[in-house]
Amino acid sequence: MNVLGISGTPRENGNSDILLEYSLQPFTKSGWSVRHLRLREMTIHPCRACDGCKECKGNPCIQSDDMHLIYDAWRWCDALIISTPVYSRNISAQMMAVLDRHYGIREDRSLAGKPGGAIAVGAGTAGGQSIAITAIYNWMLSCGMICVPGELNGVTAKTLDPGDILKQPDRLRQAEVLGRNVMAIATKLRS
Ligand SMILES: Cc1cc2nc3c(=O)[nH]c(=O)nc-3n(C[C@H](O)[C@H](O)[C@H](O)COP(=O)(O)O)c2cc1C
Repeated sequence: MNVLGISGTPRENGNSDILLEYSLQPFTKSGWSVRHLRLREMTIHPCRACDGCKECKGNPCIQSDDMHLIYDAWRWCDALIISTPVYSRNISAQMMAVLDRHYGIREDRSLAGKPGGAIAVGAGTAGGQSIAITAIYNWMLSCGMICVPGELNGVTAKTLDPGDILKQPDRLRQAEVLGRNVMAIATKLRS
């Protein structure tokens, strides 16, 4: 089975990227195929609302950028985990561009019925992590996905500098719990 992780930080060694890595570890250990896409390595433009996607069947978006890699991965995956830094009390602009571009393949319903989890990392206490988690889970619902919690809800954390999260073993553990929960639901759905 296949799992996709998408990480929305523009920073190398970003804390949200590290947490995503930990959430994907249970899949690797169980022999799943794992794809971890980092938006900092990709060029993805915002949706232009041109409705070009209505015209061209099979070619979801008229923009030529790296979004086709994510369209392919959405079709390929059996489960999805999304991780974002908190920017302006919300998900990063990089991640918002990706979620908006689902518009281009909305009629495929390629994510419908698949389980998903969310991770959000901000520098503040109550800095907007819960808003970012809610934004991701709401997007998943709008795609027909099944929202899976970690230990409590999605995984949230408070960090400032890249790599800081490695000093918070409990958050790393919570990311693994999220991964295990998403994997369990995907496995049940398959059987
Ligand atoms: C443009 C910008 C906006 C930010 N806005 C917030 C915010 O609203 N709330 C918050 O808690 N942290 C905010 N931060 C801090 C980041 O969320 C924090 O540094 C986090 O660790 C970034 O995730 P990363 O380590 O994965 O890159 C902001 C940082 C930047 C660069």
